Amino acid sequence: MGGPAGGGWHAMRSFRRDASVTEAHLPKGTIKRIARFAAPYRNAIVAFLVLVVIDAVIGAANPWIVKLIIDDGINKRHHAVVIGLALLMAGLALADAAVNLANRWFSARVGEGLIYDMRSAVFTHIQRMPIAFFTRTQTGALISRINNDVLGAQQAFTGTLSNVVSNIISVSLVLVAMLLLSWQITLLALAMVPLFIIPARLMGRRLQRITRESYMLNAEMSTQMTERFNVAGALLVKLFGRPEEEERLFRTKARRVADIGVEQAMYGRILFVSLTLIAALGTSLVYGLGGYQAATDPAKLGTVVALAAYLSRLYGPITALSNIQVDVMTALVSFDRVFEVLDLPPAIADATDAKPLPVPLGEASTIEFDDVWFRYPTAAEVSLASLESVAVLDQVPDKQVLHGVSFRAEPGQLVALVGPSGAGKTTISQLVTRMYDVQEGAVRVGGHNVRDVTLASLRNAVGVVTQDAHMFHDTIRANLVYAQPDASDDELWDALDNAHIGSVIRELPDGLDTVVGDRGYRMSGGEKQRLAIARLLLKRPSIVVLDEATAHLDSESEVAVQRALKKALAERTSLVIAHRLSTVRDADQILVVDDGRIVERGTHEELLDVGGLYAELYRTQFQGQADPDITPVP
Ligand SMILES: Nc1ncnc2c1ncn2[C@@H]1O[C@H](COP(=O)(O)OP(=O)(O)OP(=O)(O)O)[C@@H](O)[C@H]1O
Ligand SMILES: [Mg+2]
Repeated sequence: MGGPAGGGWHAMRSFRRDASVTEAHLPKGTIKRIARFAAPYRNAIVAFLVLVVIDAVIGAANPWIVKLIIDDGINKRHHAVVIGLALLMAGLALADAAVNLANRWFSARVGEGLIYDMRSAVFTHIQRMPIAFFTRTQTGALISRINNDVLGAQQAFTGTLSNVVSNIISVSLVLVAMLLLSWQITLLALAMVPLFIIPARLMGRRLQRITRESYMLNAEMSTQMTERFNVAGALLVKLFGRPEEEERLFRTKARRVADIGVEQAMYGRILFVSLTLIAALGTSLVYGLGGYQAATDPAKLGTVVALAAYLSRLYGPITALSNIQVDVMTALVSFDRVFEVLDLPPAIADATDAKPLPVPLGEASTIEFDDVWFRYPTAAEVSLASLESVAVLDQVPDKQVLHGVSFRAEPGQLVALVGPSGAGKTTISQLVTRMYDVQEGAVRVGGHNVRDVTLASLRNAVGVVTQDAHMFHDTIRANLVYAQPDASDDELWDALDNAHIGSVIRELPDGLDTVVGDRGYRMSGGEKQRLAIARLLLKRPSIVVLDEATAHLDSESEVAVQRALKKALAERTSLVIAHRLSTVRDADQILVVDDGRIVERGTHEELLDVGGLYAELYRTQFQGQADPDITPVP
């Protein structure tokens, strides 16, 4: 600790911090909350701070011992005093080494413990956020919140706390000692401090500006990389022939970051050199003035040497303390950014008296929509401006998406939803698993309002295959057992065969251990859809919701998917969104959705007879085809 170098480096890092944080408005109680997070480490923190103080005291004691050795030992020719004090010095050095090690152990324990606690808390909390939150949030911003801000908060805690405590103690002890030795020289030495601090502040402002700019550029580069380096993004770049443009954008930013790096290095070094310079000037002042006096009065010799040693411990900590407000606020703001995420209420959560749905639902597996009105939540209701990379969240309510939708699917029935794009079909399907809460009316599953049952049991009872049939970047096996962790290989193959994808997987050299690729891009659209159906079969839900993606399948894959579906839907209550009307001809009930309303309902034949929207959709889809009865479902 101490010395111009140690304190100097810290001071420089400190000056690089964004001074605008001091204007940040912190919610009341932030400090109390930090204390609550730190509470489990109370003993370790106290031990840590005690050690910091001991370290500072030992550091300040050393020059005084040197003074005693010279004045009381050497000058007075007391050999015993010299040896005794030298031994004391050695003992203190040993003690300081031990204190330093113990100190680091406590600070690491507290720091890593805090990181662990906050990371886990943020992860758990984000997982509980409703899907609306994820449709709003930038993934990059979210991940940075878990990584950088948590780290920042931890560093602030251990780093800033120990620096503040240690610097305050050091500066006070050193100043007292120096004043006792010579108040005139002390005042002169202090008078030099502004010579350093004023230019440091000016330089600090430039440093902050370019540091902020480099953070921003780095964030932009990583966004560009995450967006472009996944299959869908890379495909877009290639298809639209913009790789040079992308490279140019990237290079411009990387170039600027490189330039900033050089500037930062130089500013940093200038700060360091000037701090060293001023310490050297101070030292020469002490030796000049003090030495002049000592030349006439040899009893002052020890005082001069001690003063010089103290000086080297003065400038670093004083400089660091001059920026203390920025350090402390940076720490508090980091914590606050973490708390901000933890404070977002999970909009969709179990009611306090929520009960699980009975397992299995069996005869009771109905789906019922009772006069459901719905609009998507506004950003302000579910998100944070800082995570969407916008300044203000939009407060204007979205347009009404569903207007009084009512229907009922009896146990074992197949109810189909058809209608133009944007009509609200996917929205209806997402309300069954309570991805969103309705504004008016009720959604009931098995006779229970979905708001009254536990989310876990609801999502366990309802199996969903979404429009894009997402897969994790992992093996086929891992993606399948996600639905049922204890499934045996036989069960997996059974599900795959029933989903009519077994033979395809068997032909793969790695079989179940084949990695499906980023978002499942290694599989064809139809294969992925069937894999998703196999995953659904493993889950054995009583109710199935299917957002069909068969629209872009060739007829051979479509037949395979249809067969898989037949198996999946048999004896289950199902809600199927069909883009191909051939899928739904056998449905017990077809609901025609248009602009958030059910405008027609009935069986295929009934609806054709009515000659309304369904009949029109049907005619358009089969226009030009000689026989509308092709693509039969075997
Ligand atoms: N997360 C969302 N936030 C806000 N509005 C949304 C959201 N998702 C969908 N919408 C809007 O809700 C309306 C209904 O969308 P929905 O996805 O239910 O249509 P769809 O019938 O499934 O269409 P498609 O046949 O194209 O899949 C659309 O106007 C859409 O813009
Ligand atoms: Mg849809």
